[in-house]
Amino acid sequence: NLSYGEAAAIPIGARTALFFLRKADIKSGQSVLVYGASGSVGSYAVQIAKYFGAKVTGVCSTTNLELVKSLGADNVIDYTVKGFSRTDERYDVIFEAVNKSSFSACMKLLKRNGTYINVTEPLP
Ligand SMILES: NC(=O)c1ccc[n+]([C@@H]2O[C@H](COP(=O)([O-])OP(=O)(O)OC[C@H]3O[C@@H](n4cnc5c(N)ncnc54)[C@H](OP(=O)(O)O)[C@@H]3O)[C@@H](O)[C@H]2O)c1
Repeated sequence: NLSYGEAAAIPIGARTALFFLRKADIKSGQSVLVYGASGSVGSYAVQIAKYFGAKVTGVCSTTNLELVKSLGADNVIDYTVKGFSRTDERYDVIFEAVNKSSFSACMKLLKRNGTYINVTEPLP
């Protein structure tokens, strides 16, 4: 029942999330923070990271907490209530899907040799 225009919008989020998670060399058992977990790219990043066996934390606004949990996120952080960086957790991969977080805050949350991905740079 979709138009071509509607159908064309569906794979871009998934394709982008998969491309960048592969760039991050995501592995089973790693911890991944997805910033912007309710958006087109972010919601697929949550699901694909879970598919790869990662433990996923999603950052989103209050109205999208249940959505992000339903996509499989192990933890959710509401950035409107609590700054996402106010945690003792450290991540193997930080996946910035909307370019709204502070880069320096992300660096502090990365494990040694962790990977920071920002999808708002264009694909090569
Ligand atoms: N590199 C590539 O090839 C490629 C491909 C596709 C997209 N992109 C880029 O990826 C980015 C995301 O695209 P998209 O289509 O996934 O976007 P989108 O579906 O419009 O997602 C936007 C999300 O941003 C969240 N958001 C809004 N303000 C926020 C804030 N202040 N802090 C945290 N989250 C906030 C919203 O969630 P909440 O309401 O839950 O906050 C919303 O779900 C864009 O910059 C786009 O250009 C790049």
